[in-house]
Amino acid sequence: MPIMRAAFASRLDDADPLAALTVGERSEPTHPEDDWVTVQVRASSLNHHDLWSLRGVGLTEAQLPMILGCDAVAVDPEGNEVVVYPVVVTPGDPRGVSILSEHFAGTLAERVAVPRSNLIPLPEGLAATDAACLPTAWLTAWRMLTTKGRVADADSVLVQGAGGGVATAAVALAVAMGKRVYATSRDAGKRERITALGATAFEPGARLPERVDVVIETVGAATFDHSLKSAAPTARIVVSGATAGHQPSINLRRVFAMQLEILGTSMGTPGELYELLAFCAENEVRPVVDSVVPFSRVEDAFARLHSGEAFGKIVIDHTA
Ligand SMILES: NC(=O)c1ccc[n+]([C@@H]2O[C@H](COP(=O)([O-])OP(=O)(O)OC[C@H]3O[C@@H](n4cnc5c(N)ncnc54)[C@H](OP(=O)(O)O)[C@@H]3O)[C@@H](O)[C@H]2O)c1
Repeated sequence: MPIMRAAFASRLDDADPLAALTVGERSEPTHPEDDWVTVQVRASSLNHHDLWSLRGVGLTEAQLPMILGCDAVAVDPEGNEVVVYPVVVTPGDPRGVSILSEHFAGTLAERVAVPRSNLIPLPEGLAATDAACLPTAWLTAWRMLTTKGRVADADSVLVQGAGGGVATAAVALAVAMGKRVYATSRDAGKRERITALGATAFEPGARLPERVDVVIETVGAATFDHSLKSAAPTARIVVSGATAGHQPSINLRRVFAMQLEILGTSMGTPGELYELLAFCAENEVRPVVDSVVPFSRVEDAFARLHSGEAFGKIVIDHTA
């Protein structure tokens, strides 16, 4: 079996996830079914999901070592540039599916194996390093706004924890859709940068100028009460993550009196990824990229994600 360089979880460490990361050689992934192909990764991007994996959330010791990474732009066996849709049918998983790096080897490697139907042509005009941000964080934000949040019927959107990958995506997309966008961040520098994207920035917990129709929640316990208080009657609070804790206390009186909808969501469909790619290409919307790091410095990229200092996506250039 050919050997390739990869970044993988060699153990699980809740207290020090960076210590569980190993960069070294792994065997090229095999094909569990005949319709799988191996593609050559050109660019990938990090997600908070990779830190959760190193902490042991969603991964068990029995699954180690596991190559990390959900996102990729790659070259297929015929030489075409493709965006990799990272959700794979997974019998035995209670969800019926899994994301690359959960049951099947991830994208932080020279090559990754996926079902051929998971490959989407890279739209013209979109750089590989930009498109590599879209399949996880941006797809999640797209589905949160459109399918779940029904943003077409909304005037205003609140995005919590605005420096994150999903959050910067939600701000950029909602601004491009012409909505009034409010965003919170703990960091003054990030509030300044989110303002430059077209949002009005506030400190976490601040009173907004109006109650909003859609709330984008990936922070969880630290911001959920503010999300409830900021929601207009019949608003949709869409949750795809809980970086700061998954068990907030919830004022149910506010939920029923204001007729709020709290909606959970995870990733998106291949059709939604097509829509997102087309939206970005047609409207000249580009991902917010914190930094592009060569694969040889992938450990530094993980350290930056872990520091919480990143603004937007950390991209890995596999050609460098
Ligand atoms: N379900 C899915 O399909 C899906 C897909 C992608 C991501 N996610 C989840 O969504 C979450 C965000 O992912 P990501 O990749 O965007 O992460 P990220 O880039 O690491 O961003 C996390 C953001 O959360 C905010 N935050 C962290 N701790 C906080 C605290 N104590 N108080 C307030 N804000 C805090 C920070 O915002 P500020 O620094 O600006 O305050 C930070 O920018 C993760 O939990 C991830 O697992 C889920």
